[in-house]
Amino acid sequence: MSNKILTVAIIGVGARGGEAYGRYIHENADKFNITHLCDVSEDRLEKYALAFDVKKENCFLSEEEFFTEKRSDVLLICTMDRQHVKMAERALDLGYDILLEKPVSDNTDELRSLVRKANEAGRVIMVCHVLRYTVMINKLKEIIDGGGIGKLVSIDQMENVGSWHQAHSFVRGNWRNSIETSPMILQKCCHDMDLLQYFAGAKCNSLSSMGSLFHFKKENQPEGASDRCVSCKYVNSCPYSAKKIYIDMWKESGSPDNSWPMNVITDAYPLTEAALYKAIEEGPYGRCVFACDNDVVDNQTVIMQFENGVTATLKMEGFTRKGGRDIRFFGTEGELEMDEEGNFITLRRFFGEEKTWKINELTDDLVGHGGGDHRMIDKLYEVIAQKSKNVDTCMENSVESHYMALAAEESRVKGGQLVFIEKYRA
Ligand SMILES: NC(=O)c1ccc[n+]([C@@H]2O[C@H](COP(=O)([O-])OP(=O)(O)OC[C@H]3O[C@@H](n4cnc5c(N)ncnc54)[C@H](O)[C@@H]3O)[C@@H](O)[C@H]2O)c1
Repeated sequence: MSNKILTVAIIGVGARGGEAYGRYIHENADKFNITHLCDVSEDRLEKYALAFDVKKENCFLSEEEFFTEKRSDVLLICTMDRQHVKMAERALDLGYDILLEKPVSDNTDELRSLVRKANEAGRVIMVCHVLRYTVMINKLKEIIDGGGIGKLVSIDQMENVGSWHQAHSFVRGNWRNSIETSPMILQKCCHDMDLLQYFAGAKCNSLSSMGSLFHFKKENQPEGASDRCVSCKYVNSCPYSAKKIYIDMWKESGSPDNSWPMNVITDAYPLTEAALYKAIEEGPYGRCVFACDNDVVDNQTVIMQFENGVTATLKMEGFTRKGGRDIRFFGTEGELEMDEEGNFITLRRFFGEEKTWKINELTDDLVGHGGGDHRMIDKLYEVIAQKSKNVDTCMENSVESHYMALAAEESRVKGGQLVFIEKYRA
């Protein structure tokens, strides 16, 4: 029996809609057919219409025109943070099942009303908390729920943002300004909050948080620095130099045709040194990190208590050399450790043998969030085409992580005051 082919429309064909999901969906032609695209950028529309074989008449530059009728079985909403809810509401009205990028919204009223609306419409909204679909996270959950460390007592989670990623996304890039998008703890760590509640096996009860924008501000700009890297005397010595991040790093990785974050700063495909240079010479990603319009934090710590008594700390840190998460779990019978960049999990039962799993021995697809981007798309197919009811990242689960992040931001702004999550649910 042949597979049902799901028709797919994508609104917002950028790094997520075009690269992370669109390309994989297009490769899986036995399950999906991308039929419609919508983006306000003509260049991007053209690029991905060509890449995904979408007819010109099915490409829309205007969301108004795109939303006049239902175009496909599933809609991927991969526009920027503040556009998600309005687009999801329009899509529900038209009867779409939806894959929705995170963060869903930084507004609690919007979050609650979207949950209600999705339930009333009887439609699926799968939120892109991609980490829940990785082999690594699934293995940890299996060990914890299987009693591998006895009863879980506490969790210590470190989100190593990485120095260049901090500069790319949260100083120069899309998520630098909380007014335009959302607070960094929501943008970056709704994933972490989601994982913490998943591991704890309970909802968060209360939390407290501290953090600041410590470094990336005008007063820390070195003497005599220029406001653009290419004309700056520190271009080869500054650890945040755009030349280092976009050109040297690209060359060091073998000058690939297509690579993140280089493909964010230019639409040139294949990537070339000239295109990257032009982007840092003229575009926002070539600005001095001390002369941008950024206001989001570069470090934040949260302490949490869950309804079942489990406690957790989360540290979101911009000043790290490594990327990915390090998580330690403490249980009544042992410890468990995960190193995302090192790609391993180690179980240490008290007085028992130490056991390590190498994740690349459990899966051969670790592309895009440790394989989570692709496995989520596989799951999307299962949920929609095979009518599976089991959606780990449904709206009900996902809004909890958003409430936690918004409460953390509230606490941080109030100097670490204890905040109870219940008021966000009310
Ligand atoms: N799940 C994850 O792990 C993850 C990772 C990174 C980003 N994100 C989220 O994905 C979303 C998109 O991020 P991105 O990095 O792809 O950004 P992007 O800027 O690369 O892509 C957004 C696209 O939306 C288009 N767009 C803007 N307004 C539009 C409109 N009115 N109608 C149609 N298209 C419009 C833009 O032209 C752009 O091509 C963000 O909300 C971000 O927070 C999620």
